[in-house]
Amino acid sequence: MEMENDLCEILITAKEIRDKVKEMGAQISRDYKGQNLLMMSVLKGAVVFLADLMREISIHTEVDFMAVSSYGKNTQTSGVVRIVKDLDTALEGYDVLIVEDVLDSGMTLNYLINILGERYPRSIKIAALLDKPGRRLEGVKLDYCGFVIPDEFVVGYGLDYCERYRNLPYIGVLKKEIYQKQ
Ligand code: IMP
Ligand code: MG
Repeated sequence: MEMENDLCEILITAKEIRDKVKEMGAQISRDYKGQNLLMMSVLKGAVVFLADLMREISIHTEVDFMAVSSYGKNTQTSGVVRIVKDLDTALEGYDVLIVEDVLDSGMTLNYLINILGERYPRSIKIAALLDKPGRRLEGVKLDYCGFVIPDEFVVGYGLDYCERYRNLPYIGVLKKEIYQKQ
């Protein structure tokens, strides 16, 4: 298959993801029982994870989305983001769960939590499928984490390189020659 040739290894299989998402959903359902859960994602990477995770939630939940673009130049994220599409929901009184694909430096998320925290939610927590702790800023912590992975560039299950590979059903490590070609 064309896409598979661009990978040097499959890091997490579809089955491993499925089992983990089930487990996370069960835990979140227990923890949020009797609360006012709102699951939200930043487009687009986390959409696949959110779509699967929400179907493992056995209590009432609402879902919402927001789109952001990073300010500043080049590849180095400044963490300062511009909201391109805001949430439809006013957060007051909600127990907000931010659903993320991968937490890397945590800069973007750190900034988001500060913005969303000013909207009087009852609580804000973070669930991320992948955790790359290698380059983490201080002070960003995950409440729910799927897999801790090494500091390598991964694609699939929503994660992209140049908008491609999001549709792979598993998570793989992209060959260096693919992104060094550019
Ligand atoms: P942070 O602000 O450094 O935590 O950036 C996190 C964001 O960077 C994620 O939501 C992804 O969009 C992107 N990202 C970080 N690592 C990877 C990766 O290995 N593959 C694809 N996207 C990644
Ligand atoms: Mg992203």
